[in-house]
Amino acid sequence: MRTRNNNELRIEHVNEIVTLVGWCSKKRNLGGLIFIDLRDRYGITQLVVEPDNAMYDIANSVKSEYVLKATGKVVERQSKNPKLPTGEIEVIVSELTILNTAEQPPMLIQDDTDALEDTRMKYRYLDLRRPTMQRNLLLRHKVYIATRNYFDERDFIEVETPVLGKSTPEGARDFLVPSRLYEGAFYALPQSPQMYKQLLMVSGLEKYFQIVKCFRDEDLRADRQLEFTQIDVECSFVDEEDIYELIEGLLVRIWKEVLGIEIKAPFTRMSYKDATNLYGSDKPDTRFEMLLEDLSSWAKDVPFVVFENALNAGGVVKAIKVVGGAGKYSRKEIDRLTDLAKKYHAHGLAWLKYENNAFSGSIAKFVDAEKQNALKENLNIENGDLVLIVADTLENANFSLGALRLQVAKEMNLIDKDKFNFLWVVDWPLFEYDEEEHRYVAAHHPFTSPKAGHEEYLLTDPSKAFAKAYDIVLNGYELGGGSIRIHNQDIQAKMFKAIGMSDEEIERQFSFFVNALKYGTPPHGGLAIGLDRLVMLLTGNDNLREVIAFPKAASARCPLSEAPTKVADKQLHELSLKVGK
Ligand code: AMO
Repeated sequence: MRTRNNNELRIEHVNEIVTLVGWCSKKRNLGGLIFIDLRDRYGITQLVVEPDNAMYDIANSVKSEYVLKATGKVVERQSKNPKLPTGEIEVIVSELTILNTAEQPPMLIQDDTDALEDTRMKYRYLDLRRPTMQRNLLLRHKVYIATRNYFDERDFIEVETPVLGKSTPEGARDFLVPSRLYEGAFYALPQSPQMYKQLLMVSGLEKYFQIVKCFRDEDLRADRQLEFTQIDVECSFVDEEDIYELIEGLLVRIWKEVLGIEIKAPFTRMSYKDATNLYGSDKPDTRFEMLLEDLSSWAKDVPFVVFENALNAGGVVKAIKVVGGAGKYSRKEIDRLTDLAKKYHAHGLAWLKYENNAFSGSIAKFVDAEKQNALKENLNIENGDLVLIVADTLENANFSLGALRLQVAKEMNLIDKDKFNFLWVVDWPLFEYDEEEHRYVAAHHPFTSPKAGHEEYLLTDPSKAFAKAYDIVLNGYELGGGSIRIHNQDIQAKMFKAIGMSDEEIERQFSFFVNALKYGTPPHGGLAIGLDRLVMLLTGNDNLREVIAFPKAASARCPLSEAPTKVADKQLHELSLKVGK
């Protein structure tokens, strides 16, 4: 239909007769001359229709988003638009066809739209007409291609695994699909292909990858969707170093091919312990400092009952120093930070400001001159600094200060948005203690191998066991995670025992998997990267919805199709289901 696209024509094309197609992005009538910005997937070209043109009436009837086909001659523009790649030329129309009309769209179809989230989601097909959304989807496509080429060149095979399967224990809630043929039985949508990819290692495939949809029924957040995509990887005869190298190579390749940016490998590694103690997070944003400081020994003889109680209970007193924060944070603002700390289970937030060579703040009256000097020296405090202090259990102090660290960094503009700081978080504990269920649960998943020599702790003291697990973190986001797996059936059995599973439960949930391990399972390991998060970070967005064509809204609904919806009684009946009131 067309001879050129709308991003192609430059000054050297002047005098060429072209046929273009696209949507009317904007129409202006200036002193009788009609200008139409014709938009297609590639860009915008300006069409001009003069008053004596036979096409004038047709052009005059064109409205926003009409679909057009135009033939004409490329000419040099008198007033050029340096912002547009085709801004040096325009096309004098000789033929104009309206291929389709359009109703007045409910939102502005341009990068800076003023549409509310809800409108954007309801009219997603129009939202996706916006150039920025098309760029995001194109970039996502490039990530698929780079990923597939990278793994293909390294002998990896992409294998599809079932969507209707058996529940995998990734820790989230499953989406269940009722079986029509087996009354009362359900398939589960995969939270990840974890067990299948391990079975493929038992099958001798050695190198597997898959770009795969995963489903988890969890609360939505900016970086969490109900269905999302993983770049899922598993290989045999590997150790952690092999996985680090493989994944670093993939990310270097993606950044180079998609953004043209050289990122440096190998990436820094940090233990889980350092990440949580120094950054207050298991996915630290290392683009800025503001590390957590342990003030426990300093606080020991400060006569402040909150410190005393925390320390007596085996807790800690920790702090962050906000350079230049004294002027920025008023008492009211600090109340807001206190609320944030409380969300992360801190009991409260103590604070000190140092201004005009004097301390003030919520605990100033408990800190004598000697203690003031010690604190000043410990934290290198200067005039204008603010110190935020949490006295609590180590975990509460770390994670609440970690949240404050991020919030304050955003508010004080401390984050260099052009940086890509990749980080491996390693040396994870194998278990977490679940206070509600009074038992240990797998910190990653129950197929993760303990570190060499830690097998003995599985049934003696799980708190001491560390895992051959790793997370890849980028700018404070968990991009991916994985581990070296247990390939020995005895250790796997101990692992299930350690997390409190009875033989009967193991049999019911995993017998097929445990059986498979008996038939010559090679040592193996892998990792999965959240592809949506990866693309979100590559495009500089902070919400997955910007990089998924048809995402769910924060309400977990799809405003476009209105899913989930009620279904007909007949459908329920076929599935032997009844919906309770
Ligand atoms: P994990 O559960 O850590 O590991 O998931 C891997 C990565 O998937 C992404 N992710 C999500 N993205 C969007 N919305 C969600 N709800 C969501 N949940 C997870 C994250 C995360 O790092 N089978 C293991 C991997 C393995 O051991 O090989 C697994 O799924 O970026």
